[in-house]
Amino acid sequence: MGQVVSIHSYRGGTGKSNLTANLAWQAACRGRRVAVLDTDVQSPGVHMVLNLDRRRVTHTLSDYLLGRCELSDAIYDLSRDLPDGARGSLFLLPSSMSVDAIVRIASEGYDVGRLNEQLLQLVDALSLDYLLLDTHPGLNRETMLTTAVSDVLLVVIRPDTQDFHGTAVLMQVADRLGVPHVYMIANKVPRSLDAAALRRRIEETFRHEVLGTIPLDEDLAALGSEGLFSVRMPEHAVSRELETIVDALLARVEGSAPT
Ligand SMILES: Nc1ncnc2c1ncn2[C@@H]1O[C@H](COP(=O)(O)OP(=O)(O)O)[C@@H](O)[C@H]1O
Ligand SMILES: [Mg+2]
Repeated sequence: MGQVVSIHSYRGGTGKSNLTANLAWQAACRGRRVAVLDTDVQSPGVHMVLNLDRRRVTHTLSDYLLGRCELSDAIYDLSRDLPDGARGSLFLLPSSMSVDAIVRIASEGYDVGRLNEQLLQLVDALSLDYLLLDTHPGLNRETMLTTAVSDVLLVVIRPDTQDFHGTAVLMQVADRLGVPHVYMIANKVPRSLDAAALRRRIEETFRHEVLGTIPLDEDLAALGSEGLFSVRMPEHAVSRELETIVDALLARVEGSAPT
């Protein structure tokens, strides 16, 4: 049975889209059938990290939410971009960058119940092992309702007082939603900080396991979301940490270790 995984954070710019894309890629390289759905309809971006050729795009999630197409029309198969020997598959359902679509959906909202049903159908139709949802930050209604149907919630946090306070609110809501597996990832951790101590502090504060701590990295910042860090710099310490996170996630979910 495929798993729906929401990648969320209280604040924007925490690295969700880059993380989602890299985790999806690495899970596909490990033989899993994976799709990424960009539910951040107000500020979409994961399609850039996954390098989707815009000339291919005829329909998006936004079109589906506006009643202009079926969700299945917005699926793009990126599997041919995977390295030789990768046994998995990778699909992307992007959101639209059109101002018109963004403004309309932001002001009118959308039918989350219908989307949630479609997500589960998508998992079946594509025989997915994982459907990764890149989300809009914060506590908006649509994201919370989609999180509620997720099997796994990955909460991304930076070592920043604003993030800690906001994440505390987010975690209370997440715990009420009853998502079966909740894990945390610390991103943009300055190398001057003690990562192990930060991990302990987050786990003691929020009572959920930290799957990894990713440094605030000059090379990642310089890449500027123009592609997948794990592909550009596979031997880099950040790529290694991303691999550790994917392995831990797959082990927890597939081995069903309690959170
Ligand atoms: N560990 C990191 N070190 C340095 N820059 C990072 C790191 N993680 C993400 N970034 C950069 O931060 C910016 C925001 O990342 P993004 O994935 O779009 O965040 P979000 O989706 O949470 O808004 C991008 O320019 C990205 O390259
Ligand atoms: Mg994003």
